[in-house]
Amino acid sequence: MQNSTRRKLLQLMADQRIHSGESLGQSLQISRSAVWKQIQALKAQGLDIEIMHGKGYRLRTLCELLDAETILAQIPADLAERLTLEVFDELESTNSYLMSWLKQSAGLPQVCLAEQQTAGRGRRGRSWQSPYGTSLAFSMSWRFNAPAADLAGLSLVAGLAVVRVLAQNGVDGVQLKWPNDLIWQNKKAGGILIEVSGDAAGPCDIVIGIGLNISNNASYPEMQAVDQPWVGLDDALNSERGLSRNRLSALLVTELFAVLNQFEQSGFAVFREEYLACDALLQKQIVVQQGAQSLTGLAAGVDEQGCLLLQNENGISTVNFGEVSVRAITAA
Ligand code: BTN
Repeated sequence: MQNSTRRKLLQLMADQRIHSGESLGQSLQISRSAVWKQIQALKAQGLDIEIMHGKGYRLRTLCELLDAETILAQIPADLAERLTLEVFDELESTNSYLMSWLKQSAGLPQVCLAEQQTAGRGRRGRSWQSPYGTSLAFSMSWRFNAPAADLAGLSLVAGLAVVRVLAQNGVDGVQLKWPNDLIWQNKKAGGILIEVSGDAAGPCDIVIGIGLNISNNASYPEMQAVDQPWVGLDDALNSERGLSRNRLSALLVTELFAVLNQFEQSGFAVFREEYLACDALLQKQIVVQQGAQSLTGLAAGVDEQGCLLLQNENGISTVNFGEVSVRAITAA
């Protein structure tokens, strides 16, 4: 489907009213049967469109399309003028896009968003699903005047920025599962993928990729393939209006700028208390998988660098990489 036609069609239907095939065709300058084909293609992608025979079509879920100008207008002017912000209808991966962009003009903050990623990437080589218009696929580049070794707590700090932004939008109770998962009511609501380029001794150029599940429509074909419990953040809101992805994006840029500056100056230690207040693993029995080796014990928070603390019969050890899973819910 031509992306511009898809976007215009969704814009026309975003009011969630009934639109006849004829009126949509006139607005898009295509035939009624072409409209029907476009609607079928959108439905196949998982968008919830009601076909009302003899009347027309109605988009049942709210679909606020991303718009660069709308986002920039909600970012403080002094900050907005320092960055480049691009919104794509479809992209392989917003992180991949910014990583290749870094090769040409590193050093300037750049933000990239996509309505849909066709090859979205998660941690450890996994894929990340972002169906059209239903999630947030957001990446931001940043230059750190510090060696790569100083970036240990970065994904935790980026997670805190997301938690703050969601709280500002009425989504409370979001937790962080070390090192990069966003959890709501024990289900995955989003994740963070940080990629670093440059000299290990610094400065380092990084791309922070944030993926958030917004709508919770299980009919999205891509989401049916996700192999762990997930939730759309709209479910965490007591409102029919749903989250505004443009507002979330603007607040994310603003909050990330604030926390990254502070992190650059003061390191992770100043964020530690705030992290512990939303630590999804705290006092849980966990398994940390590090390649072939697995460590077990009680999650005892994080240290001043953002490393996970694991308590077991050998005492307390620090963990700086690995895949964590929870073994049991409680520990006294
Ligand atoms: C994870 O939980 O494994 C991390 C997921 C990160 C997904 C985001 S979506 C925006 C950015 N672009 C990508 O390809 N990945 C990140």
